[in-house]
Amino acid sequence: MKKLLFLLLTSHACFAVEPSSERQIELRNLLKNDCGACHGLLLQGGLGLPLQPQDLVQKSDEFLIDTITNGRKGTAMPPWKLFMTQDEITWLVHLLRHPN
Ligand code: HEC
Repeated sequence: MKKLLFLLLTSHACFAVEPSSERQIELRNLLKNDCGACHGLLLQGGLGLPLQPQDLVQKSDEFLIDTITNGRKGTAMPPWKLFMTQDEITWLVHLLRHPN
């Protein structure tokens, strides 16, 4: 029972390693400037889909992480795997869901 509770608590939107605080600042800037160029400065949508928390509730972490990692073929969404690690992408998805 304890083990099950542990699994439930840890399997939800976890990242193995949180980026360093300097890297977190870089990633926040990148989100505003680079992602914002397509998704809107406030991530309200533009060329890219809106990425505010309410826009993402129906979408799984896996799906969003895959989109950011590999981009979406046939759309303007580019892959980011050369620029950030899997942990950083997971952290970004967490940030999108819980801004500030
Ligand atoms: C050159 C434009 C462009 C840039 C830069 C860009 N995106 Fe996107 N993104 C898109 C487009 C267009 C889509 C919608 C793809 C589709 O139609 O399925 C998208 C889709 C997404 C989705 C899926 C949203 C959903 O509801 O399914 C996520 C998450 C996402 N982008 C995150 C990011 C992040 C994080 C960055 C920066 C690291 C970024 N994007 C940079 C154009 C861009």
